[in-house]
Amino acid sequence: MVINIRLLKSTDERRGFSCGEIELDYFFQQFAGQNQFKHYIGSTYIATDEKSIFGFINVSTGDLLRNSLPLKLRKRLPNYPLSILKITRLGVAIPFQNQGIARALLKAILLLAIEQSQKVGCIGVVVDAKDKAKEFYKKLGFIELEVEQGLPKCYRTQTPLFLTLETIKKTLL
Ligand SMILES: CC(C)(COP(=O)(O)OP(=O)(O)OC[C@H]1O[C@@H](n2cnc3c(N)ncnc32)[C@H](O)[C@@H]1OP(=O)(O)O)[C@@H](O)C(=O)NCCC(=O)NCCS
Repeated sequence: MVINIRLLKSTDERRGFSCGEIELDYFFQQFAGQNQFKHYIGSTYIATDEKSIFGFINVSTGDLLRNSLPLKLRKRLPNYPLSILKITRLGVAIPFQNQGIARALLKAILLLAIEQSQKVGCIGVVVDAKDKAKEFYKKLGFIELEVEQGLPKCYRTQTPLFLTLETIKKTLL
């Protein structure tokens, strides 16, 4: 079976996809298409053998302020919004979990971040990780961001995580 990572097409059949998180499945089935093809909010990449969809990852551009970064990463950065690539949703179909699909989707996005850094600027990749998935990202080198606004840590169900472009380049190039 050859699995390819590519951009979602409007003709891809998304009904029936389930990663076990209802809100992620609902987003993929109902909104991923219009967000990409009609509103240009963000793009979805899928892992597919052209018969089935095994997983998806949705991304958009964004920015963060220097003060959100851990102290050691703030040095020499200016105090205005810094471009990032944001992973907004990631899901792998239940029967295909733990077979490296998420890792392959993530690799495609990290390569995209390198391309973004060269073409329009990007200091790294950010994700608001669900508690269940936090360790998955941390294993890959993501570090926790400082958050100054919103709910105190103990009430949060998501943690903002960051992977620097430097780490991405070291890992992939
Ligand atoms: C979390 C999720 C995306 C992982 O996808 P996957 O295809 O099973 O992950 P992979 O097989 O590529 O795993 C890569 C590595 O992460 C590990 N891993 C996978 N899920 C993990 C988790 N929830 N916590 C910690 N580690 C995890 C794997 O064991 C593997 O480690 P290894 O290389 O040392 O063996 C998938 O389980 C999923 O869709 N869950 C439901 C939706 C969800 O939580 N999405 C994340 C929203 S932020």
